[in-house]
Amino acid sequence: MFEQIGIEKEVFGSGENLLQCGNVMSLPQTFRALAGKAQCVYLDPPFMTGERFMRRRPYGEAGWRTGSPAPRYPAYEDRYTGEKEYLRLLRRLAGVSRDLLLDTGVFYLHLDWRMAAPARLLCDVVFGKTRFLNEIIWGYESGGRSRRHFSRKHDVILLYAKGNKYRFDLTRVPVNREEGRRNHMARGRDEQGRMFSRIVSNGKEYRYYDDEPVYPGDVWTDISHLQQRDPERTGYATQKPLKLLERLLLPVTDPGDLVVDLCCGSGTTLAAAEKMGCRYAGLDVNPEAVAVALSRLKPENLTVICPCGRKKAKLLAEEDPSEGRFRIGGLQEKHPLFPAKATPMDNLEAWDTGRVENGVFYADQSFRRSFRYPELTASIRAEAGSVRAVMTTDAAGIRRAYCR
Ligand SMILES: C[S@@+](CC[C@H](N)C(=O)[O-])C[C@H]1O[C@@H](n2cnc3c(N)ncnc32)[C@H](O)[C@@H]1O
Repeated sequence: MFEQIGIEKEVFGSGENLLQCGNVMSLPQTFRALAGKAQCVYLDPPFMTGERFMRRRPYGEAGWRTGSPAPRYPAYEDRYTGEKEYLRLLRRLAGVSRDLLLDTGVFYLHLDWRMAAPARLLCDVVFGKTRFLNEIIWGYESGGRSRRHFSRKHDVILLYAKGNKYRFDLTRVPVNREEGRRNHMARGRDEQGRMFSRIVSNGKEYRYYDDEPVYPGDVWTDISHLQQRDPERTGYATQKPLKLLERLLLPVTDPGDLVVDLCCGSGTTLAAAEKMGCRYAGLDVNPEAVAVALSRLKPENLTVICPCGRKKAKLLAEEDPSEGRFRIGGLQEKHPLFPAKATPMDNLEAWDTGRVENGVFYADQSFRRSFRYPELTASIRAEAGSVRAVMTTDAAGIRRAYCR
């Protein structure tokens, strides 16, 4: 009844936000068209670790319910022929980011001990030394320990402004008072009973009241990496916590502003932007990243440009005109990483109904599994013939379009 077809892009709702599979080295036209429009660009590119990253993905209803099975699929390669090739990527990322920014905009570059030093020099050239604002140290407990040197327990996030009229409002990110408490100071209580910490310097007393907000400096130790069982976890390696992105974006953006991530991975930046009422555009060279990011974002207002899987899989679907229903039965597919007892319905991770015009899939309804709703909706109310096209996402994240 439905035949698999190729499509160029998918549009959900008015499609104002953008999620695209593409390489920053040959920047797609859709991103070139955003030049001078972004208020913030955040980049968390590969760190030059030399690793091949995998991702875990829950499989079927049982996987979403219990966390197992969760087969491992290849995600992305952080391997370069040498520093020269890697720095070419960083230079390109910084240059494109600067072009995308408004004059009030800011740029974050997230790296670690490996390439943060050359990146700082490179960004000084691209943005200008005087545009450097911060080197944020994000410290954490997770990761390995070493006896040959001090354990490496922090990432570096460089912050640059495009111009001198950049927007920045620190009062939007007060931190927990416990975190900000000045432990080395003497404590006191004033006449109104308010607690404070105090220090005397050059004969002058400085008081820091407990009930006054405290703002973060440039060393952050109060945001941990995502834990194994964190509900926020998508299974995409190197996924960053939403809390970190919120602290970075809140002081520099207002609702409605455009936030861009050119290495968006699992879409943390885009999810944070969405939560804050910002518009967003995310690019990643890896189609799996796009599939994972898509599963985290609200589909109401999104354009997705990503090659659809061409490998054939039969879609089981039937209409019941007497009951006015459309039922989906899953995907008949033999995928090497799917468990041996795979059922057609377990092979299906998410599906959308819609229509196809000129190679574009326009979605009208979306259904997907999540930890909260592991069971996938299989039957919907629909008049005979009204479901004209279906988009499926299989348990490996591969999307396929089907038309009548
Ligand atoms: C460290 S991960 C980003 C993780 C992301 N911040 C998150 O929270 O999930 C880096 C991403 O950069 C992408 N990437 C690498 N080279 C790229 C390129 N040339 N163009 C676009 N994306 C690229 C990788 O596919 C990977 O998903």
